[in-house]
Amino acid sequence: MTDISGPPRLTHLTFHGPLSENRSDRMIRRLTTPAPVTVLDLGCGWGELMLRLLEALPGATGTGIDLNADDLARGRAAAEARGLADRVRFRQESAVSPTVGPADLVLCLGASHALTEAQPPEHTAAALRALRRLVPPGGRVLLGETFWQRPPTPRELSAMWPGADGTEFHDLAGLVDLTIAAGFRPSWIETASPAEWEDFESGYQSDVEEWLAAHPGHPLAEQTRERVDRHRSAWLRGYRDVMGMAYLTLVPVS
Ligand SMILES: C[S@@+](CC[C@H](N)C(=O)[O-])C[C@H]1O[C@@H](n2cnc3c(N)ncnc32)[C@H](O)[C@@H]1O
Repeated sequence: MTDISGPPRLTHLTFHGPLSENRSDRMIRRLTTPAPVTVLDLGCGWGELMLRLLEALPGATGTGIDLNADDLARGRAAAEARGLADRVRFRQESAVSPTVGPADLVLCLGASHALTEAQPPEHTAAALRALRRLVPPGGRVLLGETFWQRPPTPRELSAMWPGADGTEFHDLAGLVDLTIAAGFRPSWIETASPAEWEDFESGYQSDVEEWLAAHPGHPLAEQTRERVDRHRSAWLRGYRDVMGMAYLTLVPVS
């Protein structure tokens, strides 16, 4: 019988974003210092950082929200394997107007678009307003948000995704200004390094490349190869060293 399943998905990624073990360890030390009791992860995927935070916070509970059933199932399985199943829920629902929260610590990593129906670049300010409503005084938000490291050239933009536009994101200073306008102070500002991006992009594509090498005549091989070629080209010719990922630890203020 012909195998009609395609390549495995994202198995080489620990986090679904450019985030190293080293940085995540430092974030966990910083974010657990105020001893949050509730954690909310919006657009959580499989919620790896939330699970690690809960391991470091005995007694705390967490809720992850995402639309992707496969990623949520991966999160539930990881929670079960680490003895966290009774302290974490993974819910399949939209993070636009979530039915849960507020929480002492709110995570939104690479998922601000999940919090609002506003289009780029307004989606960032709209997501920040939503995050501000979800965190009580004394709480924290960890926002992972894309920004332009420098203005993209027309050639780079045309190599990115269809319709890519230089106004889609802010620069880092503009992004931090938006957090302040939304009622936060930036307690920590950091950005993903080139090595974190390379690990993420290579990990993202590696499942597909390994599968293609092992299944050259597969009925899905041609379209899979075209898809991964498009993605790699968008990265290497388009957004590599141009699009950044900022990790902002935000304190709500009145
Ligand atoms: C780049 S991934 C980041 C996942 C996770 N935060 C992490 O860092 O590992 C973005 C996530 O947003 C989710 N997403 C997109 N739109 C959403 C929505 N309206 N509600 C909830 N999740 C959404 C996607 O399914 C995806 O898992």
